[in-house]
Amino acid sequence: MPDIKPTTSLEEIVSLAKRRGFVYQTSEIYGGLANAYEYGPAGVEILRKIKNLWWDFFISKREDMLGLDSQIILHPKTWEASGHVGSFTDPMVEDKVSHKRYRADHLIEAWLAKNPINNPPSVESMKSEEMNRFLQENKVKSPDGNEISEVKNFNLLFESSIGVVADESSKVYLRGETAQGIFSNFKQILDSNRVKLPFGVGQVGKSFRNEITTGQFVFRTLEFEQAEIEYFFDPETSDWQALFNDWQEKMWYFVTEILGIDASRLRWRRHEDSERSFYSKDTYDLEYLYPFGWKELWGIAYRTDYDLKQHMQFSGKNLEYTDPFTMKKFVPHVIEPAVGINRLFLMVLCDAFHQDESKNRLVLKLDQRLAPYQLAVFPLLKNKEELVAKAREVFVNLSKKYRVAWDERGNIGKRYLSQDELGTPYCVTIDFDTLEKGTVTIRRRDDASQEIVELAELEQKLALMLA
Ligand code: GAP
Repeated sequence: MPDIKPTTSLEEIVSLAKRRGFVYQTSEIYGGLANAYEYGPAGVEILRKIKNLWWDFFISKREDMLGLDSQIILHPKTWEASGHVGSFTDPMVEDKVSHKRYRADHLIEAWLAKNPINNPPSVESMKSEEMNRFLQENKVKSPDGNEISEVKNFNLLFESSIGVVADESSKVYLRGETAQGIFSNFKQILDSNRVKLPFGVGQVGKSFRNEITTGQFVFRTLEFEQAEIEYFFDPETSDWQALFNDWQEKMWYFVTEILGIDASRLRWRRHEDSERSFYSKDTYDLEYLYPFGWKELWGIAYRTDYDLKQHMQFSGKNLEYTDPFTMKKFVPHVIEPAVGINRLFLMVLCDAFHQDESKNRLVLKLDQRLAPYQLAVFPLLKNKEELVAKAREVFVNLSKKYRVAWDERGNIGKRYLSQDELGTPYCVTIDFDTLEKGTVTIRRRDDASQEIVELAELEQKLALMLA
């Protein structure tokens, strides 16, 4: 395998993100909040575009898919049924001096990176006892060099309460995944839609997990957006493996063809038996080479009929499907492709990051469908009234069709560099020739080349370039 490296360091991404308004630290004026970030004016545009592209590809354009928007706070029994209350945990250790907590698996990974050994264990599939043994045998310390406690399992669900009295009866959870809203609405979806198996339900929305591992920027946060699909089918008439493969192909296509990501930094990783949930028949992660290594971008799991059966048991309601031809009643099986929008976002930013040494510039080579602005319009000089007026006219006109940036500050070269960092594919400059000869300059982000075109043909030309 060729030696593939991440496109850049996390520091470069974080610095660009802050400087150009892609991502800010949450509550920065109060000193910040660990594992929480805000999406600034440039970032929110990309985030929305990713969500729209996902919805368009996986829901709108498919006859066999339906959308849903379920609540963040569901009936608390949902999370007992799903197993989250009992076993949605991370293995944690505590620094015996500072009392800071760390993920045991992350400490082991960090130790292995510093102390390479032959046949290293697969950390992902280690059980708590194995982690304990490893940490003790290798005398692993906390990042501050202190002794650590034994591994304990720590529940990731955020608790809250409804009403004025906060007791057990008022306890609720912020959802730990969007998936459970799909399962708990399964009957209502069947009853209110003419759907035939196989069909899927997808939704995009916020999920919450009490993550304590810091330093992975928007990759791992307390609050994040998931785009999840539950694809229901009859295991007797549909070949699960064929459906699974087909979903894997769709995920790959979405990332490489729709988001335009370089495939050399993507790979599939199959979960080992010990890593997989007991009810799952097969699970794969689509991994991306982030600045901190190969990490899960998107998971796909064959969850059998586990979730619907759990909800039947906990709710006492019948969630069976009746085949309209044979009248056979059964609980459908499900394949679940689940992705974090924020991880797609971070991948998009990393993949687009490009240092153009020859021109001494930083360029975000974003796919034009993802760029915060498709175009920028500038008057060559800001103190020439006729130029500014003409440029405003062009800007207002193009804004009817595209998201257009306006900039009149500083010299034109600096304005181009500024748009390169935002990933704006094209800049249109209005100069004296526009007034005299009716021409404008189009400047391309990727190779910094320039072309003079007739103003009268500008719209037509841009329609082709931004198709
Ligand atoms: N319903 C299945 C499920 O939630 P998961 O692997 O825990 O599975 C699915 O989460 C996806 O959600 C992950 O592949 C990842 O992209 C995203 N994700 C999970 N935890 C996250 C976090 N703390 N911050 C950002 N994204 C997260």
